[in-house]
Amino acid sequence: MTRAAIVTGGASGIGAAIARHLAADGALVAIFDLDGTAAEAAATAIEEAGGKAIGLPVDVTARAAIDAGVEQVRSRLGRPSILVNSAGATIAGPFLDIAAETWDRALAVNLTGTFDCCQAVLPDMIEERWGRIVNISSSSVHSGSRGLAAYVAAKSGVVGLTKVLALEFAPYGITVNTIPPGFIDTPMLRKTLEQGVFDLDQQIANTPVGRIGRPEDVAATCAFLVNEEAGYITGQIIGVNGGRNT
Ligand code: NAI
Repeated sequence: MTRAAIVTGGASGIGAAIARHLAADGALVAIFDLDGTAAEAAATAIEEAGGKAIGLPVDVTARAAIDAGVEQVRSRLGRPSILVNSAGATIAGPFLDIAAETWDRALAVNLTGTFDCCQAVLPDMIEERWGRIVNISSSSVHSGSRGLAAYVAAKSGVVGLTKVLALEFAPYGITVNTIPPGFIDTPMLRKTLEQGVFDLDQQIANTPVGRIGRPEDVAATCAFLVNEEAGYITGQIIGVNGGRNT
């Protein structure tokens, strides 16, 4: 059966790789991204490769925009039954310098955005009696990460939210899991490296498999979790981190 999938943050990095992989597996993919032009470009690239995708300008910190985006998905692709929350932003800074607005922004993008997208799409999944949600958190929830207090707090919230949704919606055939990726080569990671939050060589040395991760590493795991066969896996934290966290 052809399913409609929403991938937030699907215009770049991990989300873009997930959107490509799900489309290649036959899903009808809606890319929600703050950068609407990039979302459309990513959708066009998927269509050129033979898949079906649309790109929409959706800011996950704005509930009305999410609801309008989901409505478009219903009318253009059908009832969404797969949701991947990959939109996120690393907001770095020493703890004592974090302003209230910075803290709020980190939570809005990384945690409340995930909450709102789940709440907007779950009624469709309940009606369908089938659904798959994958929330992209961060390996920093295992280990903490200096300079990223607001981000790590928000991503830790995503892990907690995932566990509760898994319990509440399992009776409807809906699974909810989280992938905390570690050290994946994306524009976000490159920006963090430029800001000096991490040192590339040191991070590779700390990674047992001895390389930086690829967005496709996360996409392959996500594609498995949204499969029919993964129906007995819910509420889980599936790390994709080259062995950095075990
Ligand atoms: P990226 O920066 O390449 O992609 C993030 C995408 O999210 C961008 O297209 C951006 O426009 C979009 N976005 C940002 N704010 C948004 C908003 N308010 N509404 C809608 N879209 C928004 O980053 P990357 O690395 O692909 O990150 C994807 C997810 O993976 C994020 O949630 C990030 O926190 C998480 N992650 C990434 C790691 C890495 O090593 N790259 C490690 C741990 C977690």
